[in-house]
Amino acid sequence: MKILLIDANPKTSDYSHSKWAADHYVDALKEKDHYVEVWPLYQMKIPMIDEEVMSAFGKSMKGMELTEEEFEKMNLRNLILDKFVKFDHYVIVSPLWNFGVPPQLKALIDVIAVAGKTFKYTENGPVGLLEGTFVHIQASGGVYKDMMEMEFGNRYVSHIFKFLGLEEKLALLIEGTNMGDFSRNDYQSTLDDWVTKSVREVM
Ligand SMILES: Cc1cc2nc3c(=O)[nH]c(=O)nc-3n(C[C@H](O)[C@H](O)[C@H](O)COP(=O)(O)O)c2cc1C
Repeated sequence: MKILLIDANPKTSDYSHSKWAADHYVDALKEKDHYVEVWPLYQMKIPMIDEEVMSAFGKSMKGMELTEEEFEKMNLRNLILDKFVKFDHYVIVSPLWNFGVPPQLKALIDVIAVAGKTFKYTENGPVGLLEGTFVHIQASGGVYKDMMEMEFGNRYVSHIFKFLGLEEKLALLIEGTNMGDFSRNDYQSTLDDWVTKSVREVM
């Protein structure tokens, strides 16, 4: 199975709990002979929706010629999108920052959520066009069970990837990493259980 790991954290696994957990998942997937490609978003150029991209959107609809800068940005966005759609399973790895997802992950989502390519509008509302599954691995300094309305990281990832047609598998939410008593040793058995269960679901 072709798996894409979307790494939305500028830190290394030594300092990032979500990446540390993702490393275990990837090792287990590779043991089962799955192919795993990693996209380190903080080392990638992902053209965000800016003035030029907005202008290119408008011009493309009218069949107008793009400037060189507009063409370059649109070309790179299309290349990323074309590669993105070719996987069977997606692993999104991110920290919770200011109650939401890191901006590089949002930039990628703004590249891949394209009407006519990854979703379409129908009489009965929008329909996702991707096939496959995804899991989200997120670490957060706080614990959100009593204030879910403040959590826009996992809830956003969950909704947007389902919107694109992918089936959600059980997320790993590593919570309370900034609350003093979090330890990787203590968390290891929870992680191992999740990895065992999740790898079994990737077929
Ligand atoms: C810029 C920044 C913003 C953060 N915002 C939040 C937040 O809104 N809620 C929260 O629970 N933790 C927040 N944290 C703490 C991180 O979620 C926590 O350190 C988590 O472990 C990060 O994931 P990582 O260990 O994979 O890097 C923030 C950390 C940083 C650096």
